[in-house]
Amino acid sequence: MADAPNIAPAKTPGRKKLFIKTYGCQMNVYDSGRMADVLAPLGYAPTDRPDDADMVILNTCHIREKAAEKVFSDLGRLRALKTAKADMLIAVAGCVAQAEGAEIMARAPYVDIVLGPQTYHRLPEMVARTARAKNDPAAGQKGVLDTEFPAEPKFDHLPAPKADGPTAFLSIQEGCDKFCTFCVVPYTRGAEYSRPAADILREARGLVAGGAAEITLLGQNVNAYHGEGARGLGSLIRALAEIDGLARIRYTTSHPRDMDDDLIKAHGDVPQLMPFLHLPVQSGSDKILASMNRGHTRDDYRRIVDKLRDARADMALSSDFITGYPGEADRDFDDTMELINEIGFVQSFSFKYSPRPGTPAALMKPQVPDDVKTARLHLLQQVLDIHLRNFNKDCVGRTFDVLLTGSGRYPGQLVGRSPYLQAVHVMADPKHIGTIVPLAIVSVEAYSLGAVWAEDSFGRISCGEPVPTSPGNALAPVVSA
Ligand code: 5AD
Ligand code: SF4
Repeated sequence: MADAPNIAPAKTPGRKKLFIKTYGCQMNVYDSGRMADVLAPLGYAPTDRPDDADMVILNTCHIREKAAEKVFSDLGRLRALKTAKADMLIAVAGCVAQAEGAEIMARAPYVDIVLGPQTYHRLPEMVARTARAKNDPAAGQKGVLDTEFPAEPKFDHLPAPKADGPTAFLSIQEGCDKFCTFCVVPYTRGAEYSRPAADILREARGLVAGGAAEITLLGQNVNAYHGEGARGLGSLIRALAEIDGLARIRYTTSHPRDMDDDLIKAHGDVPQLMPFLHLPVQSGSDKILASMNRGHTRDDYRRIVDKLRDARADMALSSDFITGYPGEADRDFDDTMELINEIGFVQSFSFKYSPRPGTPAALMKPQVPDDVKTARLHLLQQVLDIHLRNFNKDCVGRTFDVLLTGSGRYPGQLVGRSPYLQAVHVMADPKHIGTIVPLAIVSVEAYSLGAVWAEDSFGRISCGEPVPTSPGNALAPVVSA
């Protein structure tokens, strides 16, 4: 997974400049937005240049070794900036901060603040403490370290986020109780916590009032949602679908074990729920799934997919995969490839297994040699890519409702999102940004689709050439390699 883009969500004018670099998942993107929001009243306004910043926050990811190492190399570069600008504050947030807070303080003493994901609401207080310490060197304080799991959820203390365009994230759940043997999340993010439904609905209404047409519900284990006032994620989605102006709902990331019947049913009867689901399976081998403590078999996964497709025929799936998990033999890897071809995932993330300190799998034997992990990853990615390209090719000739989100790369071009999260380009007036329009897909580029304006209900073409459109919107099964 690529690092998320650096974000600068709060538009509040201020005298001081804040640069946030976000690594890892969408949850971190959301959290970076919240940190910017809590710092805005202190006069911090976003900048996209670290050398221009009075404060730099690295919002980090600990999921794989590479992601964690990158933080230390980025800190090395920041040290040089801080040497030139002594007043600059450096904070390390996120999962590396949670897992390696003391080590960061020791290895990078020029870091002013280290804060775990549960304490973002205390950031202003930490900034004030750092400033006091700087003004009073006699106090001898080196830096602030706060990696507690406070009893009170941070959401109660964070300002409601504002919409920053037609799409928005909304964090509804955090933490994980599943303890997959390879994963650090239960240790860095803590136990599962679900926000009360009333708070989520209030935040969603605010986002829609601010211009969001599509909301992605976020959680490390989002479909384990069990917040007060809702009977699970299906029931929460039905309540959200009542909000006028909320045209699209998505949720990520889900666990197969929590894909209950009510949630599956919601895919059939809530039209706002998009027909695209990220449902990580990790491996197609029952032996490996058991060793990973996933709590489901490959047949369980198949049954869930069948039920989802019964509920909504045009459902497409994406997944995460790990290659070279301890004990993975060629036969296990073949099982994964077979499952990929059977399900026809349309988009996926795949990783080499990375042993994480403190997780059970890191101590398992035999560990798979790196060259084997790499070779399997390449094979797996080739097949995933074929599925992605076939899926995109099959979209040509179909008409999709596309949410136009902004300007494209070329003058006069807009970019939007299909129901399947594909980027769609079309020549159109910028006044359409923020609206959902039917577009006829006419071409496929490497990882995006080209479109023209589709016929309206009177059979007219409002822009571009007429193109044949396929009857209905049902997805043809993805052709396998
Ligand atoms: N090594 C490799 N990949 C991992 N993931 C989580 N932990 C590890 C690890 N130790 C992957 C899983 C998960 C995704 C977010 O990251 O596939 O679904
Ligand atoms: Fe990690 Fe997801 Fe497993 Fe939780 S369910 S331990 S977040 S991989």
